[in-house]
Amino acid sequence: MAILVTGGAGYIGSHTCVELINAGKDIVVIDNYYNSKPEALSRVERITGKKVKFYECDIRDREGLDKVFSENDIEVVIHFAGLKAVGESCKIPLAYYDNNVAGTVTLCQAMADHGCKKLIFSSSATVYGGNNIAPYGEDMPTGAVTNPYGRTKYVIEEILKDLYASDNEWSIALLRYFNPIGAHESGLIGEDPNGIPNNLVPYVAQVAVGKLERVGVFGNDYDTPDGTGVRDYIHVVDLAIGHVKTVDYVMKGTGIEAINLGTGVGYSVLDVIHAYEKACGKALPYAILPRREGDIATCYANPEKAERLLGFKTQLGIERMCADSWRWQSNNPNGYGE
Ligand code: NAD
Ligand code: UD1
Repeated sequence: MAILVTGGAGYIGSHTCVELINAGKDIVVIDNYYNSKPEALSRVERITGKKVKFYECDIRDREGLDKVFSENDIEVVIHFAGLKAVGESCKIPLAYYDNNVAGTVTLCQAMADHGCKKLIFSSSATVYGGNNIAPYGEDMPTGAVTNPYGRTKYVIEEILKDLYASDNEWSIALLRYFNPIGAHESGLIGEDPNGIPNNLVPYVAQVAVGKLERVGVFGNDYDTPDGTGVRDYIHVVDLAIGHVKTVDYVMKGTGIEAINLGTGVGYSVLDVIHAYEKACGKALPYAILPRREGDIATCYANPEKAERLLGFKTQLGIERMCADSWRWQSNNPNGYGE
């Protein structure tokens, strides 16, 4: 019996593979390497000392999926594969709907046909949109999303609810991630964005390593303690462990649950920059810029449901997140390279 990890060569997927293997689980990984490199899985093998069973396969490729399901006894699917760049999703929305939404539909059809009805889906806090007030609880209304990427997450959640309503043999967890950052403590795996990073911590990391000149702080006139945006940053290893616990949870019964994975604590942009300065031991230049369109002031989780249903509580604070990010970035200034 094995766990299929889609998008397992990516940032969160690779860290989750490590924690699954460490927990003694058998895994099979598929990825089309659209946003990742084979080296990430080689590093997972180096960290764990175990070989990873891998298929280069697109989640929209039904024949490819059938081969994976026929050759392996897959019991649970953890579904990370997807496109995730907010700005890009506004430029090529159809590619996002095709990859994320149609890809998930094809994956679920293959699962159903092979009798596998346990699914853990990578959703996002972005589904809460801008109309709710933090801390976000899972029963708050969702869907007031501001971009096509966020809409794919919302639509997939709704599709999966319809799927469960039609067949309650399914057991589905909709994991709503807050802001995953950091890296494995070995410094061997981490986030390797293409081009100039869009997200705060990868950007700060590249300033720290000297690849970018200064951090642009998107607005200091928000209604927050220091005027800059507040987010719930979660260590990617904590997030990965949350998936291991969710595997045990979806195995136990049937149903569909949305579950936040966050710490419940918010840090501002300036808090993050200062924590990173401590981690890398130097001052990081920054400049205040206008607000970024679509951003909200404050976003953090109510993490109680994860604790209640999964027995999951985050362990690693902002200092560790920055220290581990810095170890990865300074040891691998060009990520996984060419
Ligand atoms: P990532 O881009 O590093 O990983 C995604 C992986 O999926 C990549 O290896 C990519 O090559 C693969 N992939 C993409 N389309 C595919 C397809 N059609 N078939 C097969 N493989 C495909 O991203 P990540 O940060 O690890 O995110 C994983 C998931 O979590 C995504 O669904 C993302 O939307 C979601 N998520 C991420 C964040 C975040 O901040 N990183 C926050 C909330 C939700
Ligand atoms: C972004 C996405 C969200 C996605 C999440 C994880 C947007 C609008 N939202 O969330 O949909 O789920 O990433 O991939 O893109 N900031 C700066 N300077 C920077 C970068 C960011 O000041 O160079 C600020 C932002 O204004 C925000 C905070 O840092 O206050 C965090 O930003 P970011 O890392 O991009 O994450 P989110 O915007 O929370």
